[in-house]
Formats: sequence, C-alpha cells, structure tokens
Amino acid sequence: MKNTIYSKRRKKVLSQMQNGVALVPSASMQMRSNDTEFPFRQESNFYYLSGFNEPDALLLLSKNKKSSKTVLFLRKRDLQAEMWVGKRLGVEDACAALGVDEAYDIETLDEKLGELLPGHLNLYLDTFSSNSYLLRAKRTAEKLSHTRNVERSPHNFIHLNTLLEKMRLHKEPYEIEQIKKALSITKQAHHAAMAAAKPGMKEYEIQALIEYIFKKHGSQHDAYGTIVAGGNNANTLHYIENSNLLNAGELMLIDAGCEWNCYASDITRTSPVSGKFSKHQQALYEGILDAQLKIIKAIKPGGSKQKLQAKSERLLTEVMRDLGILKGSMDELIEKKSFKKYYPHGIGHWMGLDVHDTCPYKDENGKDILFEEGMVLTVEPAIYLPLNDPDIPEAFRGIGIRTEDDILLTAKGHENLSHDIAKSVDEVEKICAMDYREFI
Ligand code: GLY
Ligand code: MN
Ligand code: MN
Repeated sequence: MKNTIYSKRRKKVLSQMQNGVALVPSASMQMRSNDTEFPFRQESNFYYLSGFNEPDALLLLSKNKKSSKTVLFLRKRDLQAEMWVGKRLGVEDACAALGVDEAYDIETLDEKLGELLPGHLNLYLDTFSSNSYLLRAKRTAEKLSHTRNVERSPHNFIHLNTLLEKMRLHKEPYEIEQIKKALSITKQAHHAAMAAAKPGMKEYEIQALIEYIFKKHGSQHDAYGTIVAGGNNANTLHYIENSNLLNAGELMLIDAGCEWNCYASDITRTSPVSGKFSKHQQALYEGILDAQLKIIKAIKPGGSKQKLQAKSERLLTEVMRDLGILKGSMDELIEKKSFKKYYPHGIGHWMGLDVHDTCPYKDENGKDILFEEGMVLTVEPAIYLPLNDPDIPEAFRGIGIRTEDDILLTAKGHENLSHDIAKSVDEVEKICAMDYREFI
C-alpha cells in the first residue's frame, strides 16, 4: 500500500521531467561528539519519494524517449555492521520492498553513474546542496564532459526542489492521516504540560514530560526543538534553553509538536502557571485568540498567506491599540508598521514533512500562491511584550502569548486539525486544574 504511494510519486516526478536523470540523496549520520552520532532523521524529499529510512542511499530517476526507470543505491548487507547498529534492508530485497526497478550497492555509485548518466543532458538535483553523493555525481558528469567519445553528457543542472516542493504542498489523504496522528499525541502532551506546570518547577521538567509523552506513544522524533518559556522568556522567539523556573502568576508558552512517520505537527499554547489567568493576561490572551479565530475562519481556497498576514497585522494592531499598548490611529499604526515591534513574525507557514515545508509563498511570476484543497498551514498570531520596554503599560510587561494551530485547506473551506487542543480561557483553566497523569 505504502509502496504504491511512493511509486506513484516517483511516476509523477518522471512525468514532469524532460528527458534526464534526477538524483535524490538520503540523509547521512551526523556526528554529535567524537564517534557518537545524532539520532538519524531521513531527508524529507528522499523519504517522500522512497519511504526508505536508512542513511547512505540515493534515489535515481531516469527518463529517455523510450522509457523511464527508478534506481536505488543503498548500503549492502553487512552482518558485522548490523550487529553493532541494526538491520539493513540490503540490495537483494530493495526492489521487492520498495518497488524500485533496480538496486545497487551505494559503494558502486561512481561506476554505475558512469553507465547511467551518458546520453542525458539534464540532471535534476538540489543545485545548492553540498551532499557528497551529489558532488560525486557532478564530478562524474564533469568527467564525462571531457570524454569526447561520450555523446551528450549531462550539463543542464535543474533545481529539482522546485518541482518537489510544489508536489509536497498538496497533501494526499495518507499524509493528512500522518499529521492527524502526530497531532493526537501532541494534544496529549500539551494537556499534560498545562496540568503539570506548578510554580517552582523548572521549564525543562515540563519539556521532559512533553517529550516523554511523544515517545510513549511511539513518535519517532520531535518535529522541532521544544520551547517551554515561563514569563518573560516567551518574548525570546526561539527560546529552547528551557532552564528557568516557572513562577507563580506568570504565563507559560509551550511550542511543541511531535512527528509521525516524518510528518510534523506544530502547536503553541500559552497557559497560566498558577492555573488562572490574571485580568491583564486574560485580556491580551482573548484578544489574540479572537484574532486567531477570525483569521482561521477566513481560510478557504483562493485565499493566500499574504492576505492572512495583512489580516493578522490589522487584527493584532487593534488588540494592542484597545489595550493601550500602541497609541495612534489604526491607519497610522498600520502604515508605520508599529505592530512589528511586538508581532515581528509571519502569521504561519506551510507544514508537512518539514515543520516549515519548503514551498515558497509566491510563484515563478511573483504572484501569491493561492490556497487550494489539500494544503496545510499553521496560524500562529502572537504578541510579545518584553519586561524592559518602558513604552508598554506596566501591567503588560513581561507577557508573551502565541496561539498556534494546524489548518487543512478543504474543497470549500478549511478544517482545523488541532481544534481539540484546549484553547479558550475556560478550556485551558479546566485542564490546568486536572491531574496531568490523566493525559499520559
Ligand atoms: N515551532 C516552529 C514554528 O512555530 O514555526
Ligand atoms: Mn509554526
Ligand atoms: Mn510552533
């Protein structure tokens, strides 16, 4: 079943290529210190086209006038190496397991490329990558170009990512299922974290609980570094230190999401450490939440991220003006982009195999990419009010709030894939009063 998904994708890539060869390398192990490695995470494009989760592999798609084929280079079986670090699929089983036409030992790559590249003008690859297999392929192409008796060696390098990121922008039902599964675990983790947080705990204790729940439910990885930010730490946008105390009366911003089969979830919630929002915290929180609900409501085919961005800037400016954080007329505040000081980032981003899926927001003609069914994006309005900013009314200083959900474009509108993660003040306070063990 899964195999069909990947074969179909490979066929689709081939159908969009002119004659030529496409090369997609896997990730490789990365050293963490001396001879120990970081946990392995597959390269997203390679996984998208193969479903294969080993390092040191390369997928080759080749197309000429008469036919096309898919070839996988991978590590050969090695009982000694497998005894140390785990089983390998091996060359013999690769065609049956992965539906590729041919499979070869990755160690024979240079020699095989010498056979597979001649006769093709176009080489599709990540032209910016310094991946060692791609560099070797380029070197082989260069050698071929010096061999006068080899006709038509590859010299047109075409950026394959442009094609792949457009394909990946439209999610298939299988992909939506993976994101939903990731979100079902992420939901438990956020609820447990809201319930567990108490004054005097360290941020990393909450991080540990979140990541324990991810792992307990079988998620292979976090989709990004977990952020647990108490009080003013929420105003550091990528705060991943998570080393401070959670204090009574402060808010706790958590941005955390797990992966399921390499598909991301990306959720932010902000909750009161002591279990109840103060008056000022609640006013700001509900302003942001109300803006988020309005932005989500506007999501439908034909819309664009740029329109959502403009809407978010207007709505959040209104919130800040109503609370006395920004002063002046709406038009003037928008014109001067005064909101940027406290809402400096985008309203959201595409999400899929990468938490920030790689497709741009404008097409080749500079036109906004319009929303279509099957796209997934986050909506994450926020207001950050640093403790040391004298322009902010004192009662709001040191508060940072972001609310983030993952939204699927449907035929007529949208589906909030994370609708069941507590968000209203009542829902959040109710969860805060519960025993965190109920969510494990
Ligand atoms: N967690 C990363 C982001 O929200 O973009
Ligand atoms: Mn996000
Ligand atoms: Mn996030």
